Amino acid sequence: MNDIIFRTERLKPHVVGFDNQQLANEARGAFHQLLEGTGSGSDFLGWVDWPEKIDTAIVKNISSDVARIAPKIKIFVVIGIGGSYLGARAVIEALQGAFGNNGPRVVYAGHTLGEDYYADLLDLLDANDYAVAVISKSGTTTEPAVAFRIVRQHLERKYGRDEAARRIIAITDASRGALRQIATDEGYSTYVIPDNIGGRFSVLTPVGLVPIAMAGHDIEALLGGARAMRAVCISSDDPATNPAMRYAMVRQAALRQGYPVEMLVNFNPQLVYLGEWWKQLYGESEGKDGRGILPHSATFTTDLHSMGQYIQDGQRLLFETVLSVANPRRRVCIPMDDEKNLDGLNYLKGKSVNDINHCAQEGTVMAHNAGGVPVLEIEVPEIGEHTLGELIYFFEFACGLSAYMTGVNPFDQPGVEAYKSNMFHLLGKPGA
Ligand code: PA5
Repeated sequence: MNDIIFRTERLKPHVVGFDNQQLANEARGAFHQLLEGTGSGSDFLGWVDWPEKIDTAIVKNISSDVARIAPKIKIFVVIGIGGSYLGARAVIEALQGAFGNNGPRVVYAGHTLGEDYYADLLDLLDANDYAVAVISKSGTTTEPAVAFRIVRQHLERKYGRDEAARRIIAITDASRGALRQIATDEGYSTYVIPDNIGGRFSVLTPVGLVPIAMAGHDIEALLGGARAMRAVCISSDDPATNPAMRYAMVRQAALRQGYPVEMLVNFNPQLVYLGEWWKQLYGESEGKDGRGILPHSATFTTDLHSMGQYIQDGQRLLFETVLSVANPRRRVCIPMDDEKNLDGLNYLKGKSVNDINHCAQEGTVMAHNAGGVPVLEIEVPEIGEHTLGELIYFFEFACGLSAYMTGVNPFDQPGVEAYKSNMFHLLGKPGA
């Protein structure tokens, strides 16, 4: 089932003709490149069929690792960077309560080199029982390797080497890289990141599934959502019935009509990291060879009080994709009549916060559109595992299409290497 509603009315009057024949032909060409493996980077198309083809033993093994580890920990440390952490964080933050939930609390490492962050993390780990997932496809990325060295030493000192090994899950390449070697030598529980799936397309592999399951969420439902959306995305090369093709066409039309920045907007703070994941997906896939839409994200109404002025009134260069959620998980209503009504809010009596949020959303879309911002609206019924699975697959498939329409290889990231070689020189890495 496809739960996503896609509204293009308010792209107008600024962006027109996104559904014209030329863009439809380009999208159709990209669709066939993706499904037939005839485009650049075609060695990395494993994610296209993954939700259908995933070996059920993987989900079973994850469940048994969760049953073995979760009851004895308060903290689960997820070590990884970029595609090896953003997807898990996006899903976990979307699903967990705003102030935590009943499962182990997931904290992140290896995505930063801020020293104070690690000092604070070690304090937390001193005080709480914990386990670790270390995630790196290459097994050699500096940030997670540094974090793992720090955390592993702490874990071995706290629990002894044998128990530490039982508390570490390594998710990496099947045979290559330093992490695979360490995991084999130490006897960690391990999962494979398939060769043909790159980091930013890997959230539905063990890269995302292990942390998401350890946090207490339903990975079968997540995969079910992805499977449902895959069926929609691959079944037809007709943009009228394929929302991923329409999204890719909208993006290309906006870019070509003078809007090189896309802002993914949500009205729910639990979706901040979905925006971070989406930015990496599109930024690393499309931003190359001097091309690509700059992906930006914002959480409203919070950011209306910081970025709202620019969006309404600044240089006309961005279009918004509003990710709208119809129903909250729970209701909070505005308390009844206040006799003095000093805050003047009696007129809201009986309305829910979500009612107000929806009016804020509609008012924002109207204002921005009138101010010269093309707005695409994508609505999901609620935030749950199934809809997140749908959204993940939708954005991944559309990203592949849009990158091929841009004329770049969606699946490499040569630009990420430049800072690394400078850093290695400065650090005096042997052989650098
Ligand atoms: O999307 C990507 O490929 C990157 O963001 C990688 O995931 C990131 O650089 C981490 O790489 P690795 O998993 O090899 O440590």
